[in-house]
Amino acid sequence: MLSTDSSLQNLQNTGQRYIPQISSLEEPPSPNQELLPLTARVNEDDNLEIGGCELKLLVEQYGSPLYVLDEFTLRTACRQYRDSFATYYSGESQVIYASKAWSCMAVCRIVDSEGIGFDVVSGGELYTTLKAGVSTDKIYFHGNNKSVPELEFAVETGCTIMIDNWLELKTLAEIASKQSEKPVSVMVRLTPGIECHTHEYIRTGHLDSKFGFDPNQLDEVFTYLAGQTSLNCIGLHAHIGSQIFERQPHQDLAEVLVEWLKKAQEYGLPVTTLNVGGGLGIRYTESDDPPSISEWVKAVSDAVESACNRASLPLPKLIAEPGRSLVGTACVTAYTVGSRKEIPEFRTYIAVDGGMSDNPRPITYQSVYRAVIANRMSAPLTEKVTVAGKHCESGDVVIKDASLPTTESGDILVVMDTGAYNYSMASNYNRIGRPAAVVVYEGEANLIIERETYQNLVERDRTPERLVNKEEQEE
Ligand SMILES: Cc1ncc(COP(=O)(O)O)c(C=O)c1O
Repeated sequence: MLSTDSSLQNLQNTGQRYIPQISSLEEPPSPNQELLPLTARVNEDDNLEIGGCELKLLVEQYGSPLYVLDEFTLRTACRQYRDSFATYYSGESQVIYASKAWSCMAVCRIVDSEGIGFDVVSGGELYTTLKAGVSTDKIYFHGNNKSVPELEFAVETGCTIMIDNWLELKTLAEIASKQSEKPVSVMVRLTPGIECHTHEYIRTGHLDSKFGFDPNQLDEVFTYLAGQTSLNCIGLHAHIGSQIFERQPHQDLAEVLVEWLKKAQEYGLPVTTLNVGGGLGIRYTESDDPPSISEWVKAVSDAVESACNRASLPLPKLIAEPGRSLVGTACVTAYTVGSRKEIPEFRTYIAVDGGMSDNPRPITYQSVYRAVIANRMSAPLTEKVTVAGKHCESGDVVIKDASLPTTESGDILVVMDTGAYNYSMASNYNRIGRPAAVVVYEGEANLIIERETYQNLVERDRTPERLVNKEEQEE
């Protein structure tokens, strides 16, 4: 049924305003430009559905808080990245998923099955991708302070290692010469002096960053690498920031990297790969306006191609490593509303059954989110309330000034865009178990992460015997 103008206007004052307006899932929009997953719809009972599953029923079955991952949205983002590079970049390309955004076996398997590679930053993330069956030629190991065991593990697997600093470079050269029969594949991480804040950026000669080599160390690094038979430097890498809405910083980055690629080749290094990092932003609120995945890929590809043409260089293999824009919009967190506190003429708090332990971004970065009441999607947004978490911390606020219908205890509050840096940053603060996660697809929901139990919370605790009283010891 076609909506009239006034019914559309009425919907604008309800949770329905966040439902993606999609004519066909055959040609989906860029997920990072939506607030809800692409399959979100409202059913006859006025309940939110994602991936054909009703959120209220999911909470009944799996409890709350619950991360709900929409497989279609994640796959769509993967395909848009992959296909856009194939369309806009004439050379070879590889998209790799910055798995720090959400590293778990099911996410790795979905992303891997779309032909996407992996950026890992710890032995744990590397282990997770390997357990998920990812082939090591698609794994790139980052980190500014990899331990010796982590480096040994990485060498053993045969993944590519992103060299961040001198200590690592020298340690790795030693490990590689002892442990590996063939040269270990490495890339050099550089700090290009392009610093991005969300809506502005600056370029400086040097940058105050804990990551990567400073540009004035290039000659020394390239000379050292050229003399190493145990290391094979295949390329250069830089990452300039996250949640970026402009295209210009990545275009500038492409130019700088191409200049440095030329320089590395002059040192005789077999560099044929450039990695421009991740950073494309997503829409968390109505006012966020990121470029689409394909617009971003086109801008980066064009910039690399024109810089290479100017420098008379053959096109390198081009890598991009998005995290947030692949998985961010694909997931929501469902909470159950509990207590309410009204402070007349000041503020009304409603509390949910999670908070900073399942989403530390608001308290850490003052990140702003939007939410809907999933069991009353067409109810007018009549109140402005602060959604508080349940942790013993005044700053544990999920959303300040959320526009919601009048909420009641037991309502299902769904916070959008929680796929990136939520589960992966979750903690057990206040000894609250981390939530379960389900993946939804065409009406089916499957558990991908179990909810942590009380027993899980104590199972790695150890009590020295002298702290156990006699009666207990005798039992
Ligand atoms: C080296 C590196 N690559 C990629 C990413 C992913 O960034 P984003 O999630 O903004 O795409 C990050 C995020 O911090 C990063 O540090």
